[in-house]
Amino acid sequence: MSATPERKDRLGPGDIRARKGGEPVVCLTAYTTPMARLVDAHCDIALVGDSLGMVLHGLPSTLGVTMEMMILHGKAVARGLSHACLVVDMPFGSYEEGPAQAFRNASRLMAETGCQAVKLEGGQHMAETVAFLVARGIPVMGHVGLTPQSVNTLGGYKVQGRGQAEADRIALDARALAEAGAFSVVLEKLPEALGHRITREIAVPTIGIGAGADCDGQVLVVDDMLGLFSDFRPKFVKRYAELGQDADAAIAAYAAEVRARRFPGPEHAFGEGKPA
Ligand code: KIV
Repeated sequence: MSATPERKDRLGPGDIRARKGGEPVVCLTAYTTPMARLVDAHCDIALVGDSLGMVLHGLPSTLGVTMEMMILHGKAVARGLSHACLVVDMPFGSYEEGPAQAFRNASRLMAETGCQAVKLEGGQHMAETVAFLVARGIPVMGHVGLTPQSVNTLGGYKVQGRGQAEADRIALDARALAEAGAFSVVLEKLPEALGHRITREIAVPTIGIGAGADCDGQVLVVDDMLGLFSDFRPKFVKRYAELGQDADAAIAAYAAEVRARRFPGPEHAFGEGKPA
């Protein structure tokens, strides 16, 4: 495993765009300041994904995530970054009406969180909106394939682009976003061959999540790769730690010690000791 290269200046969307076909782009989600600090030390992009609705707030999908939630967590993450490019997701319902609505909400996300770019879901039908935002100073990361905000029309969280027609449509989606000015495009849950094809076909970096090894970069939900949830094990996630198990063992030990009056010990108490 190679060490993280020395952290230099603050990365921006232009630096990420310039990495097409070069050094892989490393991206993780972050939702809080302490996690942002950890991510910042090793990653190129910190993504405040709307996955925070499910991961942090216990929502059944990302559909209930609001602008206020994205702004709150976006601000927290911004405080923890000095190197990584900060991208904040546009939540469901904040951009789909058209370019003017998208600009109003994207500019609010940028002004209130200090993020350098926004991410939105959707392919060819979002190209006009992407071009509108980019022309007005808002860098955009696209997101195609499995787009969780469309879970109800997609019929679940399954792999997308399996047949030829579907694969061609998703490839056209990615191309439309790149041509509209997106600085990178997330490819979620696609067959490896389709991830490879789109990466070859579009001029901006592809950032894969379950889209194979040939993408220009990779992204994971940080809580997933840290193993914080024992019961969520999607195939595309490699667990680099088992923090959920460690936390469970630590909390169990604490509870047992409190019940047995072994915590706090003398070393955790203030004063001159107990009265005789
Ligand atoms: O919401 C999110 O965290 C995402 C990434 C997983 C790509 O969109």
